[in-house]
Amino acid sequence: MAIPSTPFILLPLFFFFFFFSVSSTTFNIVDFGAKPDSKTDMSKAFEEAWTSACRASTAATIYVPKGRYYLSTTTFNGPCSNNDITMHVDGTLVAPSDYGVENWITFRHVDGVSVFGGVLDGQGAGLWDCKNSHKSCPLGATSLEFSNSKNIIVSGLTSLNSQMFHIVANGCQNVKMQGIKISAAGNSPNTDGIHVALSSQVTIISSSISTGDDCISVGPGTSNLWIENVACGPGHGISIGSLGKDVEEDGVQNVTVKTTTFTNTQNGVRIKTWGKPSKGFARNILFQDIIMNNVQNPIIIDQNYCPNNKGCPGQVSGVEISNVSYQNIHGTSATQVAMKFDCSSKFPCRGITLEDVKLSYKNDVAEASCSNADGTAAGLVQPSSCL
Ligand SMILES: *[C@@H]1O[C@H](CO)[C@@H](O)[C@H](O)[C@H]1NC(C)=O
Ligand SMILES: *[C@@H]1O[C@H](CO)[C@@H](O)[C@H](O)[C@H]1NC(C)=O
Repeated sequence: MAIPSTPFILLPLFFFFFFFSVSSTTFNIVDFGAKPDSKTDMSKAFEEAWTSACRASTAATIYVPKGRYYLSTTTFNGPCSNNDITMHVDGTLVAPSDYGVENWITFRHVDGVSVFGGVLDGQGAGLWDCKNSHKSCPLGATSLEFSNSKNIIVSGLTSLNSQMFHIVANGCQNVKMQGIKISAAGNSPNTDGIHVALSSQVTIISSSISTGDDCISVGPGTSNLWIENVACGPGHGISIGSLGKDVEEDGVQNVTVKTTTFTNTQNGVRIKTWGKPSKGFARNILFQDIIMNNVQNPIIIDQNYCPNNKGCPGQVSGVEISNVSYQNIHGTSATQVAMKFDCSSKFPCRGITLEDVKLSYKNDVAEASCSNADGTAAGLVQPSSCL
């Protein structure tokens, strides 16, 4: 049998490598001098790898191998020459524990960025101790923020012990977060799991969040948010709000929270507004197929938020809440009042619907409480509706 001459073997190989090299260039952060010694600041190496990926005219991958990389403030700025950058992280990124930085890892003005895998270690425990002992403490950093960006995927990321919020999408369009694991102590202050504000088309799916503040918080200017298959607890639940802090404020609309379980949380599904004038609103909201396990306030609308009674006593919320549906919500309340609608006396809640809700308290029927709330109930609703 004749052995093919070398060109016949090399030619297909050449085309193979040519094809893959134009389709994606890989930048390994080790080639930019990064070492996983968990103490030397590697933010320059990460930013330089980012700059190379961002300048590439075609799709680019940044690879972070296994190991612990210490990073101070690290910013990945766009716009870029291509809109297909993947950050593939097998390692752990470690934050400064002196809390000197206001933001830790931030993507700004990027379009088409995917982050796969990775562990973020926010090292927040010392700061939480400081805050819990009522000393004056630094604010601490959000671990990962996307700001003014679009077409973002975050998949399989773990975020541990953030100093402040774990993950933030602010001013973004089309963000998909999936398979996210967030973990911080149940008494850690301000460690919201995922915070979304001024953003549209954000989906958060198949994720588990244990933290000391809201598992997911939804700020003003959010629309088309989809949350599905999330396990929350411990934490303060999923909260739309706080809304209405400012007079001029964008509303929240078209939010779906479905197939979600709350375990030992302070709240389940909550809408929360400041008790003072605002042009904000919350409308077209659906909470569906939800299980509550020992939740203090499983279903709650609170329009009288006024921390430390500063700047709002005697005022009422201007935020108009309408078209909010609760469907197929079952489980146990840790307090007697399982369903509370405490709405604005000036702008009562309108169009609240309850359908197949069954919440018990100590093996008995729980209670519902309504003020300034209007709506309808269908199917089995326990505690019986006060709308
Ligand atoms: C509501 O949001 C979902 C996804 O988040 C989207 O598919 C749907 O089109 C939105 N509806 C409206 C009326 O914008
Ligand atoms: C009420 O909200 C739901 C989404 O939760 C939406 O599909 C429906 O169109 C809204 N109804 C009105 C009258 O806006």
